[in-house]
Amino acid sequence: MPQTLVTVAYIAASALFILSLGGLSRQESARRGNILGIVGMLIALGTSIASLGSAWTAQGIIALAAALVPGVAVGAVIARRVQMTAMPQLVAILHSFVGAAAVLVGIATYLGEHRPMNEAEMLIHLVEIFAGVCIGSITFTGSVIAFAKLQGTLSGKPLILPARHAINLVMLAVTVWLGIWFCRADGHAGLTPLLIAVAITGILGVHFVMAIGGADMPVVVSMLNSYSGWAAAAAGFMLENDLLIITGALVGSSGAILSYVMCRGMNRSFISVIMGGFGAQEGSAPAGGTPAGEVRSVDVPRTVEMLRHARSIVIVPGYGLAVAQAQHGLAEVTRILRDLGIQVRFAIHPVAGRLPGHMNVLLAEASVPYDIVHEMEEINHTLPETDLVLVIGANDIVNPSAEDDPASPIAGMPVLQVWKARTVIVMKRGMASGYAGVDNPLFYRQNTLLLFGDARKNVDSLLAALRG
Ligand code: TAP
Repeated sequence: MPQTLVTVAYIAASALFILSLGGLSRQESARRGNILGIVGMLIALGTSIASLGSAWTAQGIIALAAALVPGVAVGAVIARRVQMTAMPQLVAILHSFVGAAAVLVGIATYLGEHRPMNEAEMLIHLVEIFAGVCIGSITFTGSVIAFAKLQGTLSGKPLILPARHAINLVMLAVTVWLGIWFCRADGHAGLTPLLIAVAITGILGVHFVMAIGGADMPVVVSMLNSYSGWAAAAAGFMLENDLLIITGALVGSSGAILSYVMCRGMNRSFISVIMGGFGAQEGSAPAGGTPAGEVRSVDVPRTVEMLRHARSIVIVPGYGLAVAQAQHGLAEVTRILRDLGIQVRFAIHPVAGRLPGHMNVLLAEASVPYDIVHEMEEINHTLPETDLVLVIGANDIVNPSAEDDPASPIAGMPVLQVWKARTVIVMKRGMASGYAGVDNPLFYRQNTLLLFGDARKNVDSLLAALRG
């Protein structure tokens, strides 16, 4: 394939990847974004195969088929079968593949033939190889540990070794020293420091992710996503492949931005997340143990009556909705209420649930119309005029102490101001705290009622009563 055609195809694929990311940023255009990404990837794959050049031999084709066919088959089966709730661990394990690929490409590039280079070019090339291999190794082992924690194979509890920051710093310093040794070595003598660096950075990846509590894993997965992008970009430099560099940079920067957005939504610094320990007590009784006031409960018939008499309702879904898988029943309840002429809207907090876009995906799966699903900024100012807010399995994202109590661990976190509505009904099983492990004064407010029980069971009962 002529080089100019390869360049044009790579530019087209890069443009499609950028358009794909743009499309994925909105629910209405997400499907189109996905298709653009698939087309971009097909162009990239087709061009890479067509430009194999001297490797276009029977042996080369067999090697390619041996990698492609099982990869495509396994990928297709996993993508069809994976449950939405198992998505974080799937993403984590896929990142580990990128990390492993960067390590293998780096070692193979080092041992393979180099084109003639001057001294400065050679130094840059060696630094690319070393950096790519080290980032790849951290990404590989870190992602495997993140997968095991999310899957429940390993405990979600953070492993806090004494002097763990000092241990990490020593490993980093030794890796830098190995890098200098590697760059100064003649011929292939740098293989020894390179392999030692792979081992050390691999241990660093394990230690680093082991120290983070299971509940903080989504931020870590997004950060590993960013690392896997930079590892791919480094592999692109090694292979002198512009498309891989662009794609890697897109993944690297979007992963970093996503980590930042998640941390901002949780009002935490990125550093505090990677220091670990937070959210390890998820689902426990609120700190202090004693209730901070009296709660008033409500039953299903009374809730139905209040729903029927409201003119405007805002539904706030949270992690408990995903746990209970109550989205389909909720979509049906919404349809019936809208048919009765009631205004029903959904309010989505940026970090509701445990994944970016978690609630949007659940609601889209249940075919809730996009135009009644609103972001927090769009809906917060309308809550004082709302008759009824139905909070389903959400806790931290509707906690007023984020605004009222400067001493609260979630102080400063932007929240949905549901307490400003006329009445709030909170559906949850008991008085357990959410992810942040803090009590929620919303439950003790005068205008709040609690509908206790599993969200799925209660939504089904509401549905039956509304139909009746
Ligand atoms: P949470 O604060 O975790 O609260 C969820 C609530 O759902 C719990 O209080 C629980 O109370 C209830 N629940 C659980 N299972 C239920 C069921 N089957 N039926 C009814 N209720 C059930 O969730 P949230 O309000 O969505 O907030 C998300 C939290 O996760 C935030 O603190 C955020 O910072 C954090 N976080 C989010 C992300 C992303 S990207 N979304 C990533 C990492 C961390 P009971 O046990 O009493 O029922």
